[in-house]
Amino acid sequence: MSAQSSAMARQPASEVLVIGAGVAGLATALAAAPRAVRVLDAGAPGGDGASIWAQGGIAAAVGTGDAPAQHAADTLAAGQWRNDPVAVRHLTERAPDVIDWLERLGVRFDRDGDGALLLGREAAHGRMRIVHARGDATGAEVMRALTRAAVRCAHIAVAPQCRAFALARADDGRVVGAWAWNGHAVELWPARAVVLATGGYAALYRHTTNPAGNDGGGIALALAAGAAVADLEFVQFHPTALALPEASGQLPLLTEALRGAGAVLIDGSGQRFMPAEHPLAELAPRDVVARAVAARTLAGHAAFLDARAAVGAAFPEHFPTVFAACMRAGIDPRTQPVPITPAAHYCMGGVRVDADARSSLDGLYAVGEAACTGVHGANRLASNSLLEGLVFGRALGQHLAAALPAAAAGAALPCPRTYAPLDAATRAALADVLWTYAGLVRDEAGLAHAATRIAAWRATREPGASAADLLDLAAALIAAMRARRECVGAHWRRDVRAAA
Ligand code: SIN
Repeated sequence: MSAQSSAMARQPASEVLVIGAGVAGLATALAAAPRAVRVLDAGAPGGDGASIWAQGGIAAAVGTGDAPAQHAADTLAAGQWRNDPVAVRHLTERAPDVIDWLERLGVRFDRDGDGALLLGREAAHGRMRIVHARGDATGAEVMRALTRAAVRCAHIAVAPQCRAFALARADDGRVVGAWAWNGHAVELWPARAVVLATGGYAALYRHTTNPAGNDGGGIALALAAGAAVADLEFVQFHPTALALPEASGQLPLLTEALRGAGAVLIDGSGQRFMPAEHPLAELAPRDVVARAVAARTLAGHAAFLDARAAVGAAFPEHFPTVFAACMRAGIDPRTQPVPITPAAHYCMGGVRVDADARSSLDGLYAVGEAACTGVHGANRLASNSLLEGLVFGRALGQHLAAALPAAAAGAALPCPRTYAPLDAATRAALADVLWTYAGLVRDEAGLAHAATRIAAWRATREPGASAADLLDLAAALIAAMRARRECVGAHWRRDVRAAA
């Protein structure tokens, strides 16, 4: 039985419908003024999605001697030069302006005694470049300011607890709104432009740093409507999530800024292992560090983040979010090494979009982690994710303010789906399959096994039920991983020789 109500309400039409209320969605909505914007938030206002959990900060070339071109060079190197260089230039050149904009909106970035922005260091950045707030609470601080600004803007109306599960199409194929479940009934939200800002799909994995809602639902509904997707196989695993015994789902993140501040990785015998793996040791690219950690944990040796010497007593002040998470788990990071595991963290792929965030479907746009602009290539550089959502979201909002697509000739066609979320047992089994066979290191045999399991689940689904869309996304992810027979960036196959 699906949860669909037979009565479907129709909301008044808006000019722009933004699906998702994280940084990318809110940046789009704010910049689209004076357009009438509706924002559908699957959770409570400002409290859902991945943005609020972001710890590290926002990369921007604002330091003395830094330049967007240097930020761009690091972004391209981390992405293994598979990035779209135009998108990288767009991102890095606008980063300093985004920091100014956020401060004008009331974001309080950390500053030194002279009032200069304090800059942190993260892996694969050639210099200190990470602007942060309240130590390791940058995402929460940025979301606080954006949510407050959105609430104050007359052109924006946020609808909480509305989960979009299908795109509304006109008979000419144009996307003319979305169908959403509000907890009681299905509603049609008509609009001239529909923006997906729904985040990625890292929460489909058993171990993830993402909240459960980051399950690729937005990408899945675009895929179901026939939108082109790209780079799905590039899934980034963060090397240092807090390893909690028997835990699955979202694990607390231990920000890379800790290693930027000098914390080291050690094995069960207290030995550092990264210097033997890479010349940059703990500040090697994230995929390199994650594989080194996984190699130890898979071999049955624990791995730990040791911040005792580098941070020690300053932990509560400099890294309050991490400190609280460790203390909740019964570990005092001032005096104890913290057990770690890699966890699915970020998806470089998503709905394929052009430089104006347009998808392959008329009327549909995508920004932030839901989108694939090509800016990250095969691996995202640390602290480029909030930045991407802000830069591309803002640019899309400005674009829609200036040029909204023409209204469709016809009305929306009937809803093509019934709302039926994936049942918890299948979702847990899928999380295990992805973690085991489509994780940090993959091979053809494992991916083929995953494809068979997913196909079996798909065969049992009611045709047209929205739960099938997530399985279709998982199938597309596996197909993309099978198709890329090379080791590059975050895509690592044990059955293919890595380029020297
Ligand atoms: C972190 O704080 O380690 C994560 C930052 C990011 O994903 O860019």
